[in-house]
Amino acid sequence: MYPLLFRTVLSRLDPEFAHHLGALVIRGAGVEPVASVVRRFTAPRADQRVDALGLTFASPFGVAAGFDKNVTMGRGLGALGFGHVEVGTVTALPQPGNPKPRLFRLIADRAVINRMGFNNDGAAAAATRLRRLRRARRRPVIGVNIGKSRVVAVEDATTDYVRSARLLAPLADYLVVNVSSPNTPGLRGLQAVETLRPLLTAVRDAAGRTPLLVKIAPDLDDDEVRDIARLAVDAGLAGIIATNTTIARTDLETDAATVEAAGAGGLSGAPLKKRALEVLRLVREVVPPAFVVISAGGVDTADDVRERLSAGATLVQGYTAFLYRGPLWARQINRGLARAS
Ligand SMILES: Cc1cc2nc3c(=O)[nH]c(=O)nc-3n(C[C@H](O)[C@H](O)[C@H](O)COP(=O)(O)O)c2cc1C
Repeated sequence: MYPLLFRTVLSRLDPEFAHHLGALVIRGAGVEPVASVVRRFTAPRADQRVDALGLTFASPFGVAAGFDKNVTMGRGLGALGFGHVEVGTVTALPQPGNPKPRLFRLIADRAVINRMGFNNDGAAAAATRLRRLRRARRRPVIGVNIGKSRVVAVEDATTDYVRSARLLAPLADYLVVNVSSPNTPGLRGLQAVETLRPLLTAVRDAAGRTPLLVKIAPDLDDDEVRDIARLAVDAGLAGIIATNTTIARTDLETDAATVEAAGAGGLSGAPLKKRALEVLRLVREVVPPAFVVISAGGVDTADDVRERLSAGATLVQGYTAFLYRGPLWARQINRGLARAS
């Protein structure tokens, strides 16, 4: 049913508008008594639970950052069967993001290109909504992904991240330092080890007892991935999220003119799958077994999730295939995983 709706209606709508429509449906799914009915149909099996970061995840599969930027869909996404939702990226200051259009479908590739630019209501608004979400009787694990405010100079990034961390860590189940989005000038440069070490140390101290993870780009070379993984362990982080979107445009089915017309931004979805799996393996090779590795990038089916778990992922996240598969995606993944076990 959803594939037909996508082909005939949704794919003709502006992608960002379609996202807002989807958000309405998801929010509705989180309101009682609808949520209880939905949950009966979507809840993961009890044996799909994962214990990690001192938390219990109802499923290994969760929603990657960027889908729920403003903390409005947590309960709905949980009711739909996701074990965790990583909200954000949240910046210390509210900001509108880049001019529209800034989200483009590459349907032939089951991919999208985005240059949203961290559009979000800011850390104070996120904190208010997180407080409300934490009072919910049933909710998924909530990670909070933080990034640099655009107007803050790269040299002052640490102060800006620390400001968000102080406000949001007490309200988060886990916190993520995002230094890997391609749409904030200078952000990915923070991945250089000599810059990243003081940043991670400062945010770790500000995060207190909340587990801290760092999210990395797929465009780092293999040695850089290993170096950051070792740094994350040394700096006392709890884990790594690999990966964010890529600035590469290789091996695409979509015609070059369409790709070109979309312009700059991060590519996500199926074309990212191979590199995301490679980066997961590189990270897992150098970190201790108990260190949490969350894999994201090009995950579409239960087999993809299983492949990531076998390659050493503790948890798996997805975003882009949600747009192509619709609201029952988490249920499909959880059922697919259950069938195999
Ligand atoms: C429209 C869009 C917005 C995104 N926004 C963020 C973001 O704000 N912060 C972040 O860390 N990742 C963001 N991402 C990246 C995703 O969290 C994920 O790492 C990436 O898309 C790879 O997973 P996928 O192939 O399943 O989409 C965004 C992705 C998309 C498609």
